[in-house]
Amino acid sequence: NDIIEEDVKIFIGSIIHCTKPFVLEVIEDGFVIVEGKKIIVVNKNISQLENVKNQLNITSCKEIRLTKTQLLIPGLIDTHIHAPQYPNVGLGYDKPLLEWLEHYTYKLERKFRDQKLSKAVFNAVVKKTLSYGTTTATYFASLFGNSSLLLADAAIQHGQRAFVGKINMTKLAPDDYIETPQETVENTIKFINEVNFRGCDRVKPIITPRFAPSLEFETMEQLAEIARENNLNIQTHISENKEEIKLVKALFRSSSYASVYYQSGLLTPKTVLAHGVHLTDEELTLLAQTGSSISHCPDSNTCLKSGLCDVKRLVSNGIKVGLGTDVSGGPSPSIIQAMRSAIQTSIHISHSKEDYDPLTYCDVFYLATLGGAEALSLQNKIGNFEEGKDFDALIIDADVEDSAADYFVDCNCLELLQKFVFLADNRNIQQVYVSGKQVV
Ligand code: GUN
Ligand code: FE
Repeated sequence: NDIIEEDVKIFIGSIIHCTKPFVLEVIEDGFVIVEGKKIIVVNKNISQLENVKNQLNITSCKEIRLTKTQLLIPGLIDTHIHAPQYPNVGLGYDKPLLEWLEHYTYKLERKFRDQKLSKAVFNAVVKKTLSYGTTTATYFASLFGNSSLLLADAAIQHGQRAFVGKINMTKLAPDDYIETPQETVENTIKFINEVNFRGCDRVKPIITPRFAPSLEFETMEQLAEIARENNLNIQTHISENKEEIKLVKALFRSSSYASVYYQSGLLTPKTVLAHGVHLTDEELTLLAQTGSSISHCPDSNTCLKSGLCDVKRLVSNGIKVGLGTDVSGGPSPSIIQAMRSAIQTSIHISHSKEDYDPLTYCDVFYLATLGGAEALSLQNKIGNFEEGKDFDALIIDADVEDSAADYFVDCNCLELLQKFVFLADNRNIQQVYVSGKQVV
């Protein structure tokens, strides 16, 4: 049990994480020992610290002692964000999805043929999301392989954990922002190889058909095959907007939106589908049976007027759910903001239902951490403080000067978490760790 001592960190203080779906564990005075990138000890009793250090032969290490208003929590997970749309945040919410895509989104994304613009924007997005505590991000990059690689490089450089997808689109977008079916498949294989060649364990390629209307059925089948052969995650959009659903029904001879993806082989346990606002009961069954998950993007669903997504209904049908910012469908790059909006959406839904308990701050904390990890099939690697997992974590302070949480009262751990969920921004994120390494 030899320990490389220079690389041991001990976090001492109050800790909150989820041990299971929707189950929080609050440790008032405990400690977590991290060796290299791994969590090796989680202990609920601070008085055992010296004992444990002796047992493990730890004589030198870095001890990080939290203050009374600080908490150690798992890193936040954004299961759906469009990096090249970042310059458009806050713009275009006068139009519903399909018009917004045409008038704002494709026009911006096609500029990412430019490597200089790509590099500047992608570095800004990775730094910004890390500052808000996003330790794992699942990115849509652009149609262009070379530009998408720059996003992977930005995540590698700044220390974020990420899935990066080169978008597949062969129709229903400007002529200079689509590929032929053959090009899109070949360029995807090339992109996967180039990301894998970087050899970074944290940053992986993800298969990214934009949404069903962007592609022929056969191309989706080929992309599903590439995912299968390379054991890759898959991301796309589903059932976000009613006009979009009509379009899918007109384009494909399929009984539902979900069944288009199902028949093409795109629904797998490693598939994350953004939105899922208007799914039918039959579609929920398909998602549950295939183990596919939903990225709940409440800010985007509000700003683009897509609808109210009922997370409780997804969960009670056995579907894994994580949270997404969906920048720039949503205006904020912050998963803390997504947590608040998920609560608000759920409360609005509850007004028109009987015996409906809306999501609580504890529920959305689960969605933003372990829920996200499960949605991305990373639950054996990250999402909470379990011995053997990689240490992705935040030190947050619920009481920072000039924050919205001024006039601070004495709080217990769960009250600190409430303050964090309802009030925090990036000023409240004080230290960010990914794979045991401090990145902010
Ligand atoms: N559906 C297809 N493309 C997009 C996109 O970029 N954003 C959102 N919100 N929905 C989409
Ligand atoms: Fe999206």
